[in-house]
Amino acid sequence: MTAEEFCRRFGVERRGTDCVKWDALEARFGDPGLLPMWIADMEFKAPEQTVAALQARAAHGAFGYTFTPDSYYRAFIGWEKRRHGYEIKKEWLRFATGVVSALYWLVGGFTAPGDAVAVMTPVYYPFHSAVRDNGRRLVCSALVNTDGAYTVDFARLERDLAENAVKMLILCSPHNPVGRVWTEDELDRLLDICLKHRVLVVSDEIHQDLVTGENKHVPSAIVSGGKYAHNVITLNAPSKTFNLAGLLNSHVVIEDDGLRRKYDAETGKIDRRAGNIMGLAAGEAAYAYGEDWLDGLLATVRENDEYLRRRLKAEAPELIVSPLEGTYLAWLDLRAYLRPDEVADFIGKRCRLAVDYGEWFGARCEGFIRLNLATLPEHVRRAADSLSENLKAHGKSAG
Ligand SMILES: Cc1ncc(COP(=O)(O)O)c(C=O)c1O
Repeated sequence: MTAEEFCRRFGVERRGTDCVKWDALEARFGDPGLLPMWIADMEFKAPEQTVAALQARAAHGAFGYTFTPDSYYRAFIGWEKRRHGYEIKKEWLRFATGVVSALYWLVGGFTAPGDAVAVMTPVYYPFHSAVRDNGRRLVCSALVNTDGAYTVDFARLERDLAENAVKMLILCSPHNPVGRVWTEDELDRLLDICLKHRVLVVSDEIHQDLVTGENKHVPSAIVSGGKYAHNVITLNAPSKTFNLAGLLNSHVVIEDDGLRRKYDAETGKIDRRAGNIMGLAAGEAAYAYGEDWLDGLLATVRENDEYLRRRLKAEAPELIVSPLEGTYLAWLDLRAYLRPDEVADFIGKRCRLAVDYGEWFGARCEGFIRLNLATLPEHVRRAADSLSENLKAHGKSAG
């Protein structure tokens, strides 16, 4: 499906629907008039078959205790095999009300108070809070930024893990916010280091389907023919792919019997084992019928990304936009134009945008912003035009 057709058929107004992205601007940014380019949520309706499946479920009228039907497993397992070459067994799969909820349970269940848990910064901010809120020590191993292209400094990562006696690494693959789709070689090196130092890997692959560049997403569990599967817990979901986050249905995939038994024992303590009736109906239909829809979404994200880059290159050539290999989130380095303390006023008051600010993602990320490209081109045009015109007028940073 082309971007034009996708936007025409699925573009939707979110304002006035208790939508966090649009209707919580006042609460989050103190200004309801901003154009929201923050939070990873879209202005697109889910695939038609998903909406129909929800309508059919709703029409039945009873919403009692429900188990996950075989048809759901078939749809999800088929999707993983087709799209990612990952052959998941039904018994490996557990359900969570969100990937972030699962992260909290995993940090709490698989590490002890005071243990160190590592993340690779800059990274999605709930990774930080899942560690801190559980009373664990957060170890931030910084990625290397070379003119906007991020890589792993393996020697530094190994040192950070060893020196801090890290017990768990939360990996973001593909990586929000820097847009990397890690290659199999990179994952191999990283997973090897973790295995060597007995660091359990929680691989958050919620962005697995949102690949816009050349690199193919490789699930951590199948890297090197599955060499690390017994040291990996994978998180993914239909939510980010198909805009279903409000339906609270996510997956925890655990191949290793021992890890799975531990997971069941830990989540059993807080009785968190059930799926969500509407989330299951929606996810099954999306996995079964959503491929064409996803093509349309990715075409839209690519066009939006091209527009943003073109516009910024013309008016603010020294601004760095990281290459977008995956996710639908653009990561911008504004430091050539603005001092870190100028960014919030410039973005909010002059550009009239609501964005995710660099410092939310880790230390030394001031001066960066993250923009959401999974939206209608008219919004991206407005944001890109406003950013580039205001940056041009402002000129380069004196400092
Ligand atoms: C890396 C990553 N993990 C998890 C989430 C959120 O997952 P959930 O809504 O299922 O908690 C996001 C949302 O942007 C994300 O980027």
